[in-house]
Amino acid sequence: LVLILDYGSQYTHLITRRIRSLSVFSLCISGTSSLKSIIDLKPSVVILSGGPHSVHTLDSPSFPDGFIEWAESNGVFVLGICYGLQLLVQRLGGEVKVGQKQEYGRMEIQVEKPSGLFASKNVGSKQVVWMSHGDEAARLPDGFEVVARSEQGSVAAIENPSRKFYGLQYHPEVTHTPEGMETLRYFLFDVCRVTAGWKMENVMDEEIKVIKNTVGPDEHVICALSGGVDSTVAATIVHKAIGDRLHCVFVDNGLLRYKERERVMETFEKDLHLPVTCVDATHEFLTKLKGVTDPEVKRKIIGKEFICIFDAFAQELERKLGSKPSYLVQGTLYPDVIESCPPPGSGRSHSHTIKSHHNVGGLPKDMKLKLIEPLKLLFKDEVRQLGKIMNVPEGFLKRHPFPGPGLAVRVLGDVTEGNALDILRQVDEIFIQSIKDAGLYDSIWQAFAVFLPIRSVGVQGDQRTHSHVVALRAVTSQDGMTADWYYFEHKFLDDVARKICNSVRGVNRVVQDITSKPPSTIEWE
Ligand code: XMP
Repeated sequence: LVLILDYGSQYTHLITRRIRSLSVFSLCISGTSSLKSIIDLKPSVVILSGGPHSVHTLDSPSFPDGFIEWAESNGVFVLGICYGLQLLVQRLGGEVKVGQKQEYGRMEIQVEKPSGLFASKNVGSKQVVWMSHGDEAARLPDGFEVVARSEQGSVAAIENPSRKFYGLQYHPEVTHTPEGMETLRYFLFDVCRVTAGWKMENVMDEEIKVIKNTVGPDEHVICALSGGVDSTVAATIVHKAIGDRLHCVFVDNGLLRYKERERVMETFEKDLHLPVTCVDATHEFLTKLKGVTDPEVKRKIIGKEFICIFDAFAQELERKLGSKPSYLVQGTLYPDVIESCPPPGSGRSHSHTIKSHHNVGGLPKDMKLKLIEPLKLLFKDEVRQLGKIMNVPEGFLKRHPFPGPGLAVRVLGDVTEGNALDILRQVDEIFIQSIKDAGLYDSIWQAFAVFLPIRSVGVQGDQRTHSHVVALRAVTSQDGMTADWYYFEHKFLDDVARKICNSVRGVNRVVQDITSKPPSTIEWE
């Protein structure tokens, strides 16, 4: 295991992912974790991440007392990156000062000694790296050597091979450091001698074993399937482990896309053989949403209603089985887990609630179900790989994200007004199908149509119309946190707009949303 101690750098997750892409298992925990929690994970390499702090600030985060002694006496390699290097220097008796010149962005470094960090034949003695620091190592602890310097003369890399301590002042994990990946690879395999062997097949086998050992032979498990990738892959792996003692529910809340219910149920039943009950709760949801226009109120109503239906499903199951189900499957991913324990001072703990995402941890508190979260160590692309080896159809795995509150956040205003939902479904289907036909679906993070609560004047077949306006939104993104709008060719947009107005009754105007996130969000509500 390569363990990353997180000091709040925006690149920390990237280090974890880069190492996993080398088939080496890596985990990231808070940089202020206790010594016991570090030791319990039995890492052979520990990487101290970068971070926004200065080692001189009061309360700046650091590794626990005894960490250095434990690492040395157990032959554990330690690599400090950026703030991590400065921590190592300071805690081992060297000196960190505010740099004469601050170094941000592209920088050239000169390797002064082809040490363990730079001995790979594939890295040059001069290389371009990505730096982002104000402080610098002014005096090294005893036994350390400078092995590379920046073009401005400051320390770029240090080492003390006999104690197995290394440090990089720059970020090898970002793509702006072109030789960074090779530096990490060489360091892990040739210096630390870790073995590669972390494959999705092993993850699957291991996870199935864990679930089998966790769930007793008479115990039952429930799962709410959303039609998204995460809950589907999570349910599939649990089903592989315990078979039909898993009971899934899929709720049609009347806010699904065109033929969504039929399409996902077919995948669940025919391709994955999952035991799923489909509950048609259209009436319940739409009755409660009647007349509601405030986006946050809509979200809250949907979240609450979903819980009621899930509760009823669990009670019905209890009547059938004669005992309560014991576990609940959730498709929690690794980024959700890491972000739930941010390092002190990183600012992540104070993030502002922009929208209440009801299906993140929003299940009934009094259900007393224990959780099974089989994906909690995986990133999204790893979940897709896992799904692939469990035969989840590729088309399903590549589906664009769809929000829990469904079309309710894409019909602005009252969703029950007129035939807004129906119009939106037809427009959305034309847009998505055209994107697929043009071979663009996989290059777009998310695309959808939005129904606007206004009418505009048009002329169709010599008749004046006063009809609805729809907006098209397509964005590119890495993780949904920031996004840019997607540039379609004019011909494509022209074709789509024409098709929509010609085939969807009640629409006479199509507009495109050309805002990024921020300042907008991806969804309109
Ligand atoms: P926003 O609109 O906040 O969306 O920029 C970011 C991403 O999250 C999705 N989204 C949701 N997903 N429940 C979800 O599971 C929700 O309530 C929800 N609201 C937004 C959105 O589709 C985008 O991918």
